[in-house]
Amino acid sequence: MRCSEPLSLGSLDDMNSVSRRRSRISLVVMIVGGFLAVAPVFGPLGKTLHYLADFIAERPQPIEHYFHGVRERIAPTRPGALQFARRVDYDVQANWKVYVDNYLEGYHIPYVHPELLKLYADYQSYRTEVSDWYSVQVGPLQQERNVYTAGGGEALYYQIFPNLMLNVVPGRLQSNVVIPVAADRCKVIFRYYYDDVTSAPARERIEADVAFSDKVQREDAEICERVQQGLGSRAYDKGRFSVRFEEGVYHFQKLLKHAYRAWLKR
Ligand SMILES: [Fe+2]
Repeated sequence: MRCSEPLSLGSLDDMNSVSRRRSRISLVVMIVGGFLAVAPVFGPLGKTLHYLADFIAERPQPIEHYFHGVRERIAPTRPGALQFARRVDYDVQANWKVYVDNYLEGYHIPYVHPELLKLYADYQSYRTEVSDWYSVQVGPLQQERNVYTAGGGEALYYQIFPNLMLNVVPGRLQSNVVIPVAADRCKVIFRYYYDDVTSAPARERIEADVAFSDKVQREDAEICERVQQGLGSRAYDKGRFSVRFEEGVYHFQKLLKHAYRAWLKR
């Protein structure tokens, strides 16, 4: 990937040994860095974060292990041909896991993102596919030109354990890194990459895309903050997962429990 931002996704298209080693390091740094940066500061929270960071750091795998199948699935979008366009940071008043859970379930879309819903050809076809280290939500797009497509294709929403998202629509990749800040706060870093960042239509597309994503993100932040408040209520109790819409949430929480359990057994 030709870009000025230190994102490890370049390795998807560039698998020589040097880049692989660098990518492996940057992947671990990217995932673990956010945890370690705040871990000593927040007592019990810091201890929890150390569990996860230690788990990943002790079992570094080649980056292909985590991204297996992604490059093939997102074709014809080619990560190596994309160029960096924009970075936007968001502060969210919710625990990082609340943010990830919200990202992973699809049933809030019609209620929280009515304009996003219009971009999908058939919401009944919206589905989740699960792999070892990630899940991906697949949204078939409308045939008419819109902010996501010049005509058809799919929106692919990857959540790669523990805190990386890749949002792919034809010719565009947007990454989100979720960084814990406190028990009830996180930072989310959006980075945008496109196959064209210089032509006039491309610049127009980027502005429209960033503005639309900003709206969707604010809707998600608001709902996450409400959930965070709800979790603090004495009335809150856990519930069952929706098989249809929460397969990704279940997968993420399973990996998380495994990570915590592995650390506790050391
Ligand atoms: Fe959402």
